[in-house]
Amino acid sequence: MPIEFHAQSRTFHLHNRQMSYIFKVLPSGHLGQLYCGRAIHDRSSFDHLFEAVPRSMSVCYFDGDQSYSLEHIKQEYPTYGTGDMHLPALDAQMPDGSRLLDLRYQGHAIVPGKPAIPGLPATYTEDPAEAQTLTVDLADPLAGVTVTLSYTLFEQLPALARHAVIGYTGPGVLRLERALSFCLDLPDMDYEMVELAGAWARERHVVARPLAQGVQGVYSLRGCSSHHFNPFLALKRPHATEFEGQVLGFSLVYSGNFLAQADVDPYHVTRVTLGIHPQNFTWQLAAGGHFTTPEAVMVYSEAGLNGMSQTFHRLYRTRLARGPWRDKVRPILVNNWEATYFDFTEDKLLALARQARDLGIELFVLDDGWFTNRSDDHGGLGDWEINYHKLPDGLQGFGQKLHDMGLQFGLWIEPEMVNAGTRLWNEHPDWVLHQPGRRPQQGRYQYVLDYSNPDVVDWVFHRLVSVLDGAGVDYIKWDMNRSISDAYSCAVGPAGQGAVLHRYILGVYQLYSLLTERYPNILFESCAGGGARFDPGLLYYAPQCWTSDDTDAVERLKIQYGTSMAYPVSSMGAHVAAAPNHQLGRSTSLTMRANVAFFGAFGYELDLTALSQRGRELVARQVAFVKQYRQLLQFGTFWRLRSPFEGNETAWMTVSPDRSTALVGDYRVLQQANAGYRRLPLAGLDPDRLYQVTRLGSGAQPAGTPLTAYGDELMAAGLVTTGEDPAAEGDFVSRLYLLQPAEL
Ligand code: DGJ
Repeated sequence: MPIEFHAQSRTFHLHNRQMSYIFKVLPSGHLGQLYCGRAIHDRSSFDHLFEAVPRSMSVCYFDGDQSYSLEHIKQEYPTYGTGDMHLPALDAQMPDGSRLLDLRYQGHAIVPGKPAIPGLPATYTEDPAEAQTLTVDLADPLAGVTVTLSYTLFEQLPALARHAVIGYTGPGVLRLERALSFCLDLPDMDYEMVELAGAWARERHVVARPLAQGVQGVYSLRGCSSHHFNPFLALKRPHATEFEGQVLGFSLVYSGNFLAQADVDPYHVTRVTLGIHPQNFTWQLAAGGHFTTPEAVMVYSEAGLNGMSQTFHRLYRTRLARGPWRDKVRPILVNNWEATYFDFTEDKLLALARQARDLGIELFVLDDGWFTNRSDDHGGLGDWEINYHKLPDGLQGFGQKLHDMGLQFGLWIEPEMVNAGTRLWNEHPDWVLHQPGRRPQQGRYQYVLDYSNPDVVDWVFHRLVSVLDGAGVDYIKWDMNRSISDAYSCAVGPAGQGAVLHRYILGVYQLYSLLTERYPNILFESCAGGGARFDPGLLYYAPQCWTSDDTDAVERLKIQYGTSMAYPVSSMGAHVAAAPNHQLGRSTSLTMRANVAFFGAFGYELDLTALSQRGRELVARQVAFVKQYRQLLQFGTFWRLRSPFEGNETAWMTVSPDRSTALVGDYRVLQQANAGYRRLPLAGLDPDRLYQVTRLGSGAQPAGTPLTAYGDELMAAGLVTTGEDPAAEGDFVSRLYLLQPAEL
């Protein structure tokens, strides 16, 4: 039983074999946090873990009891008005102008499994035995506010999912201005905060810093989870590494504006909060109404950052992603974007497709530019009318030609946007997010449709259905190429404006639901100008995401390494692009480019018809290699071995569930003259198994004589990777190693 309630001490102990999470109903009726960490024995009371000391200048909850100050008591869902002076989890304004809230325990329930969260993406169970869910009801009768906190602990994973439902019983209207999903008060600040930060084309770089007193955190106010920060943070003990030590990982299952922060108080208590960003957020609740927050997931690891990531990978790959593609290896694709950009004819596309087919590629993705008035990025978005000049037989005819070749057909859409001058723009100016009388701001020459308005979502759905029905589409890349800056909806009055950005994301989720229900077999890949919406929310609908517009292999080392902190390899779109690279002008070998992209949802994004004979041979071999090993590459246990953020070398590997087979990627950015010796300790192997280690050269073909070694040796002594001839190898070198069971 992972969740126990000890009635006498009024204590909840959520535990499985790997972690314990303990809180209790305090004498005041508030929820006090007692412990979060390694699994410990259950007891009928953990009251001795309750800490309260009298501190001068504190406000006390009970007259005369100086030690009982909610400012200094670790809590589960704190509010303002009880003596707690820190940033709260919940903030609301009552009709009388008060912001005072005092939520006290009313009751609780424990159910098997995990109930769905209506309208929102969330982790789930397939069998009720996989988890238990605790809901705790709190209320402030004077304010008319109720809160139900939900906690799901998974039986087999050190992962806890939380969200809150806020209700209002009246009178009048409540203005909810901060409704966070998650709050945890930790008893010390001996952590480093790890975040994923960046910008367009360098998304999700790993940044770590020691906690200090005060607030540190990440956020987005762009209407999407953003290139710049990710709805993720981790707290790791200072000595924790990729392989060892305690780490707490936090992730928000949401795709819009978010806040994730650690707030350290003067007594070193660290309050971790995650949720919708309160800026630009006001949700009005009339009597009987309620608001449901997105879900946040906390993961506990004692096996360092790799341990944390492996739990996120397993949970998000198998119990967040859904649909028939969840467990299937992904087709090898060619995308025409970097091959042609907007400059294509059907003949050109079909020549690319034929070449792709001949090399063994399985899916052809027609990117931006297939619809009318789209010869560049200045026009065309919104009407979704097929450009018969470019595709004489329409999408259906084009799709048929691909299918006749034996290829699957993929299509790009950007359904949240409109360009000026389109019919949609002219007929429905009020469907664009903007304030009447104020010039709307454009980004990439386009404007954002008001997805907070259900009529818009409905219209786009039917428009897309008329394009997609019968077109034989097997894959959709859903793009979103600008931040939202004018969050004002013409569809609602003043009282509704604070809800627009959240309703926008709910509209995106709604359209995803409608499309995935109508086309259950289509593989969806989300995208936002590269990786501006690589978040758990969209993984619920689209099991893979375009990781970054940066296709340079060297930059991808950092991007894929950082992305793997929270997201599984199967979710990372990774393509081999041209050399010189279109974003950086850097030239790397076809082998280096593929050796990086192999660890992702693999594809090509270059003009394959321009390859030399040798290039074509290499691509054919790479494709054959992925077909042979993609189950392992995409669904194996992924280990980060060497960080690109700490030096010139990067290494990672993936191991099959039975630990019999593994693939190691080892990369060196710049060559070194007369370099020292190199050994690469591996991870995740069976120490007692004898492996045959084969180095794979260009085209992922075996090179050199295989080595035989036990798993313990490969993990302790490491794999000797000392270079060959530096002058011959040059910069941007990569090696792959295949580990297979050796004959005894
Ligand atoms: C941005 C995406 O990230 C690219 O891959 C490509 O689809 C372009 N948009 C098309 O406009």
